[in-house]
Amino acid sequence: MYHFFMALAKYLQNTSWALYISGSTWIYPFVQATHFSGLSLWVGTNLALDLRLMGIGSKRQTAGELSDALFAWNWTGLAIAIAGGFMLFSSAATKYIPNPAFEIKLGILVPLGIILHIIVQQKARTWGQTQQVAAIGKFAGLVEFLWWFSVITAAVSIPNFDTH
Ligand code: HEM
Repeated sequence: MYHFFMALAKYLQNTSWALYISGSTWIYPFVQATHFSGLSLWVGTNLALDLRLMGIGSKRQTAGELSDALFAWNWTGLAIAIAGGFMLFSSAATKYIPNPAFEIKLGILVPLGIILHIIVQQKARTWGQTQQVAAIGKFAGLVEFLWWFSVITAAVSIPNFDTH
């Protein structure tokens, strides 16, 4: 499995666009900024819903209404984050494959976090029908809040495990 991912990483890293990103002094920060802008939207809208579920902040909208209002921005953010992340990854893919922080982030935390978010987003309509959120909804909001915090912790630890 490892050899398969390494072969794929070598291929990606040598595509013309990956070489263009890694070889340019200004394209790389631009791609980085794309990843971070998408993440700001994705994580920001996730956390806004989580806080509302926990009962923190403005209660003008129910959790269900807030979830629906943020829906399009939320998924647009993830699409931008994935596009930027994929380009960052491609520019030095063989460096990231053996990196344990990257493996944990992308192999476990991000996929499970997305599944968790889909459940929270769907259930927010039921848990958050009224101003008061059901106890299970508050708990789910807290779990998701902590989950994305862990993803960010793993992500910012990636350079610490860099062996190149
Ligand atoms: C959606 C959840 C994601 C979150 C919350 C997230 C978070 C972050 C953060 C905070 C950083 C900054 C690390 C630093 O510079 O200190 C980062 C960097 C990075 N991300 Fe993501 N990311 C996500 C998804 C992805 C995906 C889907 C990919 C790949 C397809 C990816 C690939 C990368 C790469 C390659 C870096 C650069 C790491 C480095 O060399 O420092 N990310 N991410």
